[in-house]
Amino acid sequence: MKFSFRQLEKEHALSILRWRYPSPYDYYNFNVDTIQEDLCYLLDPLNAFCAILNMHEELEGYCSFGVDGQVLGGDYRTEALDIGMGIRPDLIGQGYGKHYAQAVVRYGINQYRAQQCRVTIAEFNKRAQRVWQQVGFEQMERFVKIGTEEEFVIMLYRV
Ligand SMILES: CC(C)(COP(=O)(O)OP(=O)(O)OC[C@H]1O[C@@H](n2cnc3c(N)ncnc32)[C@H](O)[C@@H]1OP(=O)(O)O)[C@@H](O)C(=O)NCCC(=O)NCCS
Repeated sequence: MKFSFRQLEKEHALSILRWRYPSPYDYYNFNVDTIQEDLCYLLDPLNAFCAILNMHEELEGYCSFGVDGQVLGGDYRTEALDIGMGIRPDLIGQGYGKHYAQAVVRYGINQYRAQQCRVTIAEFNKRAQRVWQQVGFEQMERFVKIGTEEEFVIMLYRV
């Protein structure tokens, strides 16, 4: 599978805002009531969102590099490139996750010259944890997001 990466454009962002994941992954759905705010968030260069495109330039997913990937309460003192990722709902659950994750890690390391990459995943999301484990990430920490009862895990990849 061959992918290319490009800074997220407005059309990509509008598609992503409409994506709907089935429960329990509906946790990752964007809220219809906050579309304008979420659009600004996705297009803000500080959040470094990229489109993951297939060879026909079709949007298959998105990723982010940096602060977007951090969750309040995690220990981020170690220098590492934080990665976030979401794949188009009709493409998930078919065993392709590791291919996207591998491509995102390669791209991130190249772009940011990172020595370590990090992901922060909701504890319930064993599927995502499995994908990052498949490409070499190891669990380092478990914590509860400040102001919630949601548990998260931090996984690290050493280049
Ligand atoms: C997380 C995501 C990238 C995973 O990709 P995917 O294509 O759905 O995952 P795959 O189908 O490749 O499955 C990955 C592994 O998880 C396993 N898996 C699936 N459901 C599982 C579950 N409930 N518990 C444990 N493992 C599970 C699969 O069997 C597979 O492992 P295997 O290769 O050993 O068989 C994708 O689902 C996604 O974008 N989800 C929405 C957003 C999200 O979850 N974000 C989290 C941050 S990355």
